[in-house]
Amino acid sequence: MRPAFAIFLLASALVAVDSQVVVHTGTLFNFVPGLGACGFTNTSSQTVASVSNHTFNTFAGATANPNNNPICKHSLNITHGGTHLAVPIVDFCASCPDENIGLSTPGFVHFAPTSAGIVTGVSWSIV
Ligand SMILES: *[C@@H]1O[C@H](CO)[C@@H](O)[C@H](O)[C@H]1NC(C)=O
Ligand SMILES: *[C@@H]1O[C@H](CO)[C@@H](O)[C@H](O)[C@H]1NC(C)=O
Ligand SMILES: *[C@@H]1O[C@H](CO)[C@@H](O)[C@H](O)[C@H]1NC(C)=O
Repeated sequence: MRPAFAIFLLASALVAVDSQVVVHTGTLFNFVPGLGACGFTNTSSQTVASVSNHTFNTFAGATANPNNNPICKHSLNITHGGTHLAVPIVDFCASCPDENIGLSTPGFVHFAPTSAGIVTGVSWSIV
């Protein structure tokens, strides 16, 4: 069975590369934007997203100057509870677990009231 298993793994990898979308599962936080790692100054009334520093710094083409990180031209697509939202990535969270993500309040309330604080088990991808 080993060769067939290896072929299956290769096919899965090719599908992931072909569609350019890898789906992760993590915990969603509500964050307060400001001057972020991408170099934009955003406000709490804007709908923006953050990823962990691991996600940010390991993104293909990541540069020493975070403002030039190509992830800053991408959005975080979050799916939870039968709804989804794609939001521009503007910042990273320095000490967050790798799979954690953040949304400013207008985005967070799409998934839960701010009183919930966090939402666990959300699916997300970079698009
Ligand atoms: C974030 O701030 C930048 C300017 O610093 C602005 O161009 C961009 O539209 C803002 N993003 C959102 C989603 O409002
Ligand atoms: C993320 O930040 C933590 C703590 O600030 C650091 O230990 C870790 O090396 C960083 N990881 C990456 C991929 O930058
Ligand atoms: C976000 O994910 C949902 C659910 O998988 C998908 O239907 C939607 O097309 C995605 N949006 C973008 C902009 O990729």
